Amino acid sequence: MADPEKSNDHEWALQRRLEDVFAKLGEKFGDLTGRVETHLRPTVTFEDVGGVRQAKAQLRGFAVALTDPDLYARWGITPPKGVLLYGPPGTGKTTLAQALATASGAIFYHLRLTNLTSKFGTNTAELLQEVLKIATGEGKAVLFLDEAEALSLEHLLPPPQALEASARLVATLCEKLDAMEPAARVLVVAATTRTDALDPALVAPGRLDHLIEVAPPDADDQREILELMRVRTEKNAGRQVFAPIDYDIVLPVMGGMSGADIAVIVRRALEAKVHAVGAGAPPSLLTTENLLEAIDGYKGVRGVVEKIRYGQYL
Ligand SMILES: Nc1ncnc2c1ncn2[C@@H]1O[C@H](COP(=O)(O)OP(=O)(O)OP(=O)(O)O)[C@@H](O)[C@H]1O
Ligand SMILES: [Mg+2]
Repeated sequence: MADPEKSNDHEWALQRRLEDVFAKLGEKFGDLTGRVETHLRPTVTFEDVGGVRQAKAQLRGFAVALTDPDLYARWGITPPKGVLLYGPPGTGKTTLAQALATASGAIFYHLRLTNLTSKFGTNTAELLQEVLKIATGEGKAVLFLDEAEALSLEHLLPPPQALEASARLVATLCEKLDAMEPAARVLVVAATTRTDALDPALVAPGRLDHLIEVAPPDADDQREILELMRVRTEKNAGRQVFAPIDYDIVLPVMGGMSGADIAVIVRRALEAKVHAVGAGAPPSLLTTENLLEAIDGYKGVRGVVEKIRYGQYL
């Protein structure tokens, strides 16, 4: 077991180096916000992800690219450089990328492209190169490019300029990917909700050339996700929290809901319980009825929440 204190120091030092990169590039290009977040030891595992069986199986396979890249050479090929996860909001893309880092003992670098400000947008490739340089020196890495559709720069520039600037940005980015040493134990994982806004050059052979769909959950998957959340909640609480859930009643009203929606609903139901007990109600297990109330309440505000979160990209 690694010393947690040492690992904290390491994470802090690494975070500082990445922040230096941002500061230096900010001086060079001006007006740079955003950051890369690192998790030296992410705790999310593939077991925490419900549904998306195919995506999970495919990603598990890619752990070898980090843990045993020489294996590819033994079969006469170079290890993959990256994958693209695509699917609707809240289906588990970020969670899966973290689980891959956990499974392969890699550092997780989380770069949110939408956080980069306007002047900097077009210089993202340079930022990426600097981050890649640091990551390569640190050992195994999952470099997560979240919200990859932001590379289209549609959110920053008017359409004609966006198209041109984005073409330049993607070209530079592709150069960096092409130049990555085959021996580098860095796997780039990009994620997007919008395949239509992605440049095909990015997913050309030798780049992010594995497209992995992270599909929305069907009813069985939703059940699996709810059960995972029930088990995790009860583990955290150290006691039984839920009465048996009547899935025949709950699932039919959850059509179209993602894992992220389900997480919010469970949280809301639990919060309502805490508030009721806080106000003097006798403690009781969380019932199917309580879940239904939370689902109902959430349906009322979900549209607004989604609009605020994703509105500009839909
Ligand atoms: N398949 C799933 N299994 C279990 N939990 C899930 C799943 N999908 C989403 N969740 C829950 O929803 C939260 C958000 O999921 P996550 O951030 O991985 O989705 P995402 O696809 O990256 O969303 P976005 O497109 O908004 O970035 C997770 O922390 C988790 O609690
Ligand atoms: Mg995400």
